[in-house]
Amino acid sequence: MRSRICGTGSALPQLKVTNDDLSKRMDTSDEWIKSRTGIASRHLAVEETLTSLAAQAAKQALKEADVEPNELDLILSATLSADKLLPSLSCELQRELSAVNAAAFDINAACSGFLFALQTADAYIQCGRYRNILVVGGEILSRVMDWEDRSTCVLFGDGAGAAVVCADALHGILESVQGSDGARGDALCCENRKNNNPYVTNDVGLSYVSMNGQEVYKFAVRTVPEAIRTVVGRAGLSMEEIDLFVLHQANRRILESVSKRLGVPMEKFPTNLEHCGNISAGSVPILLDFVNRQGRIKKGDRIVLAGFGAGLSWGATVLTW
Ligand code: UT7
Repeated sequence: MRSRICGTGSALPQLKVTNDDLSKRMDTSDEWIKSRTGIASRHLAVEETLTSLAAQAAKQALKEADVEPNELDLILSATLSADKLLPSLSCELQRELSAVNAAAFDINAACSGFLFALQTADAYIQCGRYRNILVVGGEILSRVMDWEDRSTCVLFGDGAGAAVVCADALHGILESVQGSDGARGDALCCENRKNNNPYVTNDVGLSYVSMNGQEVYKFAVRTVPEAIRTVVGRAGLSMEEIDLFVLHQANRRILESVSKRLGVPMEKFPTNLEHCGNISAGSVPILLDFVNRQGRIKKGDRIVLAGFGAGLSWGATVLTW
């Protein structure tokens, strides 16, 4: 059995914030952000919850897949910024969708989250335990940004994407690889709530995302091409046989470097970071939905998905559509 993506969906918050908007609030410029990253604007959640965005994306994906919520066996959401510490986003989503027969839990692998969730779904399907799985990746990262730190807050955005993955005799996931390097975790980090009980005297204030951008950049341009080469090779394919490379949207320069290292033209690397920024676990499923809705994917196409980021962590999958 293969795990086939049968439907996709995505949702962005209403508010669009341009680089110029940000430059009125902090010491930055459209020129700096665009030239370093390719990002022109991002959507930020004001009224929306992550559950509402994920539910919107999930409903579109279910509709395209022609799967009823009560036919779902599992809901697997990748996020680091769920609305609640508990219950999980997946359980909140189960309630919203009335997916009464699904088990539900979250995965936190930061920007690799959607890949890790998809690969977990694939393992469940391959072992025969489940047939229909809703995989979601989404974030309201603006919650965990330090809006005084221009080196991080301008890079990220909010949104959610979803894919319905079904057991299929023919098409679907061919090969996957994933990896983690916890020893380098400090490069991209956000502390949870601090210890807080009657015996703690230290400050219990909240922490925000901090990043050593150059270290993450170097890690990405080295690790991502390697991971892609591994899955494509294991699938017995050549780079030329891959129709589309849907990668985590962190920085246009990273995508250009990966394209150059793999010897694949940039036209095969769709982007949406221009108007979405980096949505961590949301970026791959949102971009996949964009290209799906643009009609850029045909049945039988070979697609590489890849994510990378905090952990440090990375994952790549090659599939037939
Ligand atoms: O999704 C997780 C994965 N994350 C990533 O893949 C991120 C990877 N890293 C990157 O994309 C890049 O490293 C960044 C876009 C984050 C930064 O680009 P950079 O070329 O590495 O810039 P930098 O950090 O070396 O900063 C250069 C300068 C600094 O000024 P000085 O020290 O040279 O005077 C910063 O203070 O740019 C300054 N700077 C800014 N200036 C205007 C930093 N942020 C801003 C800003 N606006 N928003």
